[in-house]
This record gives sequence, structure tokens and C-alpha cells, in this order.
Amino acid sequence: MPRIPVSVIEEIKERCVIEDVVSRYVTLKRSGSNLSANCPFHSERTPSFYVFPGTQSFYCFGCGAGGDVISFLMRIENLEYPDAVRRLAESVGVNIPEDDGTPGERTIPRKRLFDMNRDAARFYRDALFDERRGAEARSYLAGRGLSSAVIKRFGLGFAPDDFSMSRRMKELGYTEDELVAGFLMKVSERTGKPYDLFRRRVMFPIIDTSGRVIAFGGRVMDGSEPKYLNSSDTPVFKKSRNLFALNYAKDKCAEELILCEGYMDVIALHAVGVENAVATLGTALTPEQARIMTKYTKRVILTYDSDAAGQRADERALGLLSEVGLDVRVLKLKGAKDPDEFIKKFGVDAFRDALSGSSPRFRYVIDSIRSKYDMSTDEGRIRAIREVNEYISHVGSAVEREIYIGQAADFFEISRESIKNDVSLIIRKRRGAQKKTEAAEIAREAAGFGDRVNRDKLTQLRAASCEETVLGMLAAYPEYIKDVTGEGGLSLSPEDFMTEFGRRAFSAITEIYRENGAFDIGALCGELSEDELSRIIKLGVGRDRLDNGREVFAENVRALRAERERQRAKSDDAFEAIRRLREKNKGNT
Ligand code: GTP
Ligand code: MN
Repeated sequence: MPRIPVSVIEEIKERCVIEDVVSRYVTLKRSGSNLSANCPFHSERTPSFYVFPGTQSFYCFGCGAGGDVISFLMRIENLEYPDAVRRLAESVGVNIPEDDGTPGERTIPRKRLFDMNRDAARFYRDALFDERRGAEARSYLAGRGLSSAVIKRFGLGFAPDDFSMSRRMKELGYTEDELVAGFLMKVSERTGKPYDLFRRRVMFPIIDTSGRVIAFGGRVMDGSEPKYLNSSDTPVFKKSRNLFALNYAKDKCAEELILCEGYMDVIALHAVGVENAVATLGTALTPEQARIMTKYTKRVILTYDSDAAGQRADERALGLLSEVGLDVRVLKLKGAKDPDEFIKKFGVDAFRDALSGSSPRFRYVIDSIRSKYDMSTDEGRIRAIREVNEYISHVGSAVEREIYIGQAADFFEISRESIKNDVSLIIRKRRGAQKKTEAAEIAREAAGFGDRVNRDKLTQLRAASCEETVLGMLAAYPEYIKDVTGEGGLSLSPEDFMTEFGRRAFSAITEIYRENGAFDIGALCGELSEDELSRIIKLGVGRDRLDNGREVFAENVRALRAERERQRAKSDDAFEAIRRLREKNKGNT
């Protein structure tokens, strides 16, 4: 496989943030300056999988899987190195130079799509503020109580009922193919020609957390259908992974985030200073969105409509949000169907009051469990209590469990003791089962082959330990690579490494550096196996809290050389001994 240049890998990695890629697959929680999760590569109940944003790497202290964003994708999607790189490159719009002369599939670079969306948003905004053309839309928005400051803050616009958007965009140099790919135009099934998709609609740009316009929602101004038209997914927009107004809410929601159903609810809330509100993009909440929220907040307040559909949406969202460890509450607004209407009728203070009385998740859980059983019979009560206890047993924090036990006791009029005993019993049973499988795993590993990545470690303990320090420091601090590849006192050669793994890893690192004048762990993916790469990452990560000064590095380089000398001397001695023995034997014959 031709080596992909380090510069390209660096560019890809610079553009795709490892925590974002990883959080598509697992739920990351902040732990110090890093993020942790239950490892997706082995089964566990307490998180030992860490993502290190600082070095854009991951490592699992449980199973030893580790690497960068590329090796993460390789492992989780079971891809070969070039395919993983290609997939990431595509998703962030980086061009990988083709070496065999055949041009790759022509895709529109992401940057082009971002530019296109930005230019379209400008066009829609200008149309809204155009004296004549925007009059109807401006009066519609004013009628819904939006000031021009709010309209501008959200970048709202107007799509005229003609083809002036595409005309303007073509003047700016965008082709019809590009406009279709960006979901601004659509090919008509009838004529086969593309037409402007949004017409005579108020436009809501959807902006990502980096402040880029990634899509649009367009609302009619009368009662016609469909009420909203939303962009489909494009290379820069995934409905399931974005939230409306998160670009503004993200800095205001450390404590709690309000999840609304509609764009208009969010805008109405922000307009009165409740800026920690977001909405999904015309779909039900997705697991990805729930995970994304964990990055920004601790608690989510649901403000779905109180109708049957809203109730179902609540249930689903409650499940998804609790699953990712968020504290969830449900806000039932009385006298209005949604936050927008509520604020118009009763004002923001009333809304804030309602917010503080939002019902906590546990209360909601009890209510919904209770509604499933006939509480007038013993049988029904016992089943309900059993289900509540089961729920409490899954709560991770002992303090929280204690509180819930108290509430459940009060609610069912049962002693705390009994509930507590039952909950403990459930937990103990589960732990017992879990311990058995863990013990089995450990036994399997211990009976294994020692160190599978570095098979020479057992026989080369002392050298291997110096090698590990050196490799770890090279991985974590590539500036040391210059020293070992140079002529100075710290220079090393592959022959200085006593283990086969160390030798190969060292060669790969220095070769990449020589060829590129730079080093990136990602470039090792093509040279070493996944497990070997994981080991290097682990060694780098392991340096985290240690002294990584030049002195330590130099000391280990010296120790490594000394170890080689010692072994050489030993083998020379052995050689000498054998020679003498032979001589002696010769003499005897
Ligand atoms: P208003 O009716 O103007 O107050 O809008 P709203 O934002 O409050 O919307 P509503 O509560 O009716 O719907 C909630 C969300 O569902 C909207 O913000 C849209 O994202 C989405 N939605 C509503 N109607 C449609 C539709 O006809 N098609 C699609 N694709 N999405 C819709
Ligand atoms: Mn509404």
C-alpha cells in the first residue's frame, strides 16, 4: 500500500475531532480534562475507555485497545487502514492524492457546501429585508412576536416564490449539481430539471456548533402543507446529529438544557433570555443527539406537547436521555400547548416558575410504572414495587439510590428497610453474576501467552522496560525523534533495541519521520498491526503523569545502549567459552 503522506493524515485529523467521531458510537462522559466511556471493544460495566482530546487519541485500560481517530474507525467499523482514512477524509472533505492516475469518485468538498449554505443564507436574509419582496414574511414574523434583533440573531430569511435563489447562486459560481447536492435545489421527477426547493417560505438556517450554516428549515406563512420543509441529510448535515440553536445554547447549558419540539419554541425562549433551549430537527430525538447533549449539560428538561404524541415522545426521550446518564425532567405546561404559546400568554417569569417545578425523572418513573398496574390489588402493588426497585438498583450513585428509596417508601407506604433490602439483593445478585464472568476473563488472560504484542519481553525484561519508555516518549513527544535520528549523543539505531517489537516500532517511527520531516501516530497504522499500534499509544498515554524531561529520555537511551553492550559482552563471553571448550575438546582427541 502506498503510504499516505503525514501531511494528509494531519489534515484529516485536524478536521475530525476524535471525541466527535467516538461519540457516534459510545457515550462519552467528561472525566477531568479527558472523556471516558464503557469500552466498545470489550464488555464492561465500569468505564475504562478513555479519549484524550489533547493528543486526539484513545486508550482502553481494560482491554488495551488504543490509537487515534483512524485506528478507532478501523476497529469499530472493521475497516482496513486505507478505507478508514478514505472514509474520514471524505467526511471532512480532504483530498487524498491518487497515485495510480485514476481520478477518485468526484465528491463536492465540504468546504464548498459550507460556502454554498452561507451564501444561500445571505440570499434568503437579503430577500427578507428587501423592502418589497420581504414585506409579507416580515409581517408574518412580526405577527409572531419576533423583533428584528431576534430575526437577525437567528439569521432568519425568506425564500421568494421564484427561482431567484438559484439564479443568484449560479452568478456566484455554483453549479446546479452542487445546488442539488446541497439540497437547495431538487430534480423534478416530472421534467427532470432542477428547481428551487424552498419557495415562499420563512427560512430558518441550521447552524452547527462551529457556527457554520449546515441546512435549512422553511416554514409556510399560511396553513398550507407541508408546514415545514427541512433539508435532507447532505455531506455536511446529519439531522440525527445536530440540534437547532445548539450553537447558542452550548455555552449557556452547563447545568440544564431545555429540549423543545419546534424551532419557534426555541426562538421564543431565546428571545426572552432563556438561552439554554434547543430543538430536534423535525424528527424524534435520536441516540446520537442524546449523546451529544452529555457533552454540554447535566440535565435535560423536556417540554414536549402534552398531547398523546407528545407523551410518547416524552417516554422515548426519557429513555434515551437517562440511558446516557443525563438527569431528565419533564415540564408539563398548563394552559398552553407549547413554550412559545405559554410565554406569549403568561410571560417568562411564569415559565421559569414552571421550570423549577418540572417533575424529576424518578417521580415520572414511579408515575408511569404505577399506571401500568392495578394499584388496588396486592398483586399489582407488589409488581409495581418490584419494578421500581429494579429501576433503583440500576442507579449508579449510592446517594441517589438512598433518595429514591426514601421517595418510593413514602409513595408506596412501605418501610425504607424493606425497599432497601430488596434493592441490595438485586444489586448483589447482579454483581455476583458479573464477577464470575470477570474472573473467568482474568483467568483466561493469565493463562495466556504473557505479552502477546511484545513476545520478547519475558526474556528481555530490562531492555523492554527502557524501550517502552523511549517509545512512549517518542510517541507522546515527537520532538525527541529528531534527537534519536540525529548524530548527537542521543542517537539510536534499530539495532539498539533488543526486542523484535521495539526494533520494528522504532524503525517505523523514525522512517516516517525521515520521509516526512514530521511524525503522527496515525501514520503508523499502515506499518504496525492494530495491537502494536495500541501498545505504542498506551506507552505514550502512560507517560501522562510522569517526568518526560530530556534527562529522563537521555537516561533511558543510555540504559538501552548499556543493556545492549552488556548482552553483547555476555554473548561474546559465551562465544569465547564455547571456543575454549572446543579447543579443549580438540586437545583431548
Ligand atoms: P409553529 O407552528 O410555527 O409554532 O412551529 P413550531 O416550530 O412550534 O412547530 P411544531 O410544534 O408544529 O412542530 C415541531 C417541529 O416539527 C417543527 O419545528 C419542525 O421541525 C417539525 N415539523 C412540523 N411540521 C412539519 C412538517 O410538515 N414537515 C416536517 N418535515 N417537519 C415538520
Ligand atoms: Mn409552535
